[in-house]
Amino acid sequence: ELPERVTIYEVGPRDGLQNEKSVVPAAVKAEFIRRLAAAGLETIETTSFVPPTWVPQLADAREVLEDLGDAGLGRHRPVLVPNERGLDDALAAGVGAVAIFGSATETFARKNLNRTVDESVEMFAPVVARAKESGLWVRAYVSMCFGDPWEGPVPVEQVVTVAQRLMDLGADQLSLGDTIGTGTTGHVSRLLDALDASGIGAERIGVHFHDTYGQALANTMRALRHGVTVVDASTGGLGGCPYAKSATGNLATEDLVWALDGAGVETGVDLSQLVETSVWMAGHLGRPSPSSVVRALAGG
Ligand code: HMG
Ligand code: MG
Repeated sequence: ELPERVTIYEVGPRDGLQNEKSVVPAAVKAEFIRRLAAAGLETIETTSFVPPTWVPQLADAREVLEDLGDAGLGRHRPVLVPNERGLDDALAAGVGAVAIFGSATETFARKNLNRTVDESVEMFAPVVARAKESGLWVRAYVSMCFGDPWEGPVPVEQVVTVAQRLMDLGADQLSLGDTIGTGTTGHVSRLLDALDASGIGAERIGVHFHDTYGQALANTMRALRHGVTVVDASTGGLGGCPYAKSATGNLATEDLVWALDGAGVETGVDLSQLVETSVWMAGHLGRPSPSSVVRALAGG
């Protein structure tokens, strides 16, 4: 059975734009976020407070939030923060929600965070504690929940262990990252069942599928049947991780909205306005959207 309503957690401005070759000007990023909100997306991850040497594409985090004013703040506008320095900058910018991002595998923890899994949990602990003290909403991502480009298929128990450690820090929501898009539906069921058995129920879980193998929508629909109601998606299907080879775009928000509209699941999103926004953004990026629904509805 599908839920009546799904909350789309839009990651285009962050996951999408972090992976573009060109650096999109801050004013365009802010306008992208305003257009996404106008299309009915309530939750939008806006940017990351990470060293510009690591992700130059999002080095303008402060400028983007300044441009947005109140529209960039509050508990529905999370930003990524890896460490206390990032949290300090995010707090100074006035944000109301942050996301930490761990890894289920040692190799990706090293590549993406320059830390072991243990060291990264240590790095996140004061971030979550201080964020909660400051009244922020906190999400915890776990990357490489299905497959890892260096380590291969990732055992479910390994994901559960890392997820528990991050949730035990005090995070409000867990997001399961299929960073390189190798997950399939049976694997999704096994992972969600194991998490549920470990005490992390579907009501605290979001799913984050990259569409490298074309499985993102099928995997999402499977997760919804397990009671998940928060789905990460990226308008236009932009996205990827600069530190994971073979990661391509996220599940396109348009593909998700098309499927949920058809299934009678409410999202609050206006699909035609969203497609217009994708086409507008594709103009700035200089390439067409990889989303099938955008291609079908906009002819390019
Ligand atoms: P490090 O090099 O070990 O950092 O990186 P450090 O603590 O040694 O600091 C090095 C320098 O950076 C110092 O400056 C710090 O002050 C500065 P210096 O003394 O040399 O002048 N610094 C900072 N500056 C600005 N903002 C900060 C910050 N922190 C330190 N926050 C670190 C460690 C964790 C910082 C780094 O590895 C990092 O930022 N990694 C993040 C990479 C990233 O953003 N990846 C993409 C997002 S994750 C993703 O896409 C997956 C996801 O979508 C889910 C999925 O698909 O699976 C979420
Ligand atoms: Mg991602």
